[in-house]
Amino acid sequence: MAKKNLKTYYEKAKKQGWAMTQFNVSCLEQMQGVMEAAIAKKAPVLFGTSEGDSSFLHMPQAVALVESYRKETGLPVFLNFDHGKTLEILQSAADAGYDALHFDGSAHEFKENIALAKKVVAMARKKKISVVEGEFGEIPGGHSEFHKNTALVLDKENYTDPEQAREFVKKTGVDSLAVLIGTVHGVFHKNPPLDIERLQEIRNRVTCFYVLHGGSGTPENDLAAAIRNGVVKVNISTDLRAAFVLALRDTMAKNPEEIAPYKILPPSIEAVRKVAEGHLLLMGSANKI
Ligand code: G3H
Ligand code: ZN
Repeated sequence: MAKKNLKTYYEKAKKQGWAMTQFNVSCLEQMQGVMEAAIAKKAPVLFGTSEGDSSFLHMPQAVALVESYRKETGLPVFLNFDHGKTLEILQSAADAGYDALHFDGSAHEFKENIALAKKVVAMARKKKISVVEGEFGEIPGGHSEFHKNTALVLDKENYTDPEQAREFVKKTGVDSLAVLIGTVHGVFHKNPPLDIERLQEIRNRVTCFYVLHGGSGTPENDLAAAIRNGVVKVNISTDLRAAFVLALRDTMAKNPEEIAPYKILPPSIEAVRKVAEGHLLLMGSANKI
């Protein structure tokens, strides 16, 4: 039987009404925590590395780790290059063996974004990469950080316009589209609610896989409603970073003299496992391998 690719899982998720979680990571120990959760929940899993994550982890190593987890566990484990802003970096990711590419052309004008995204799709097809994700309209919030004292108010004017979405998907041939319906990068004092009606309007106009960025901190009921309405992938970064680093700070505070990484890092791996398990359950991807 041919190896099932990421698109197969998006199709399955769409049909059955659940979503893949994309866990953004920059080190092996975060991956370990996520994999422990995926094994426990028998869930398909998608890792993401941004330009920053992958410049630290290195693309060939990220690919090798994913392949090794796939082999060792027998689970469907995939790797997406997240927020790739240039053709060059996405070509490098494709050459390294990534399973999926996200072209973030939001800094470009709509037409220019379409022209570039089309090139990414053509390049990905040559490499037999099953999923190319497109984006127009920048995801609000900035980087994946904690802004616990800031309340973020969004202007719905900037949410995804269904007609533009239709044109973008038709002209570029992307498989999935990052839609703006209220999610933001990072965790705020109170993350905004999601505009499910807007998602339904997009859905009525364009057929593709809808994905959400900025999953951390999003009201859980809203996320569940978005998944019921066709979202097949949700990105999570801040929650994993926070779990890892807060546990690390705590460990170091309690054991200031300890210098063995294998003694210092397990609580951080465990903290990531817990958070990842929560997300896999919320997205409904447990037992979906
Ligand atoms: O591309 C990365 C994600 O959109 C992460 O967003 O940090 O709010 O979970 P988050
Ligand atoms: Zn994002």
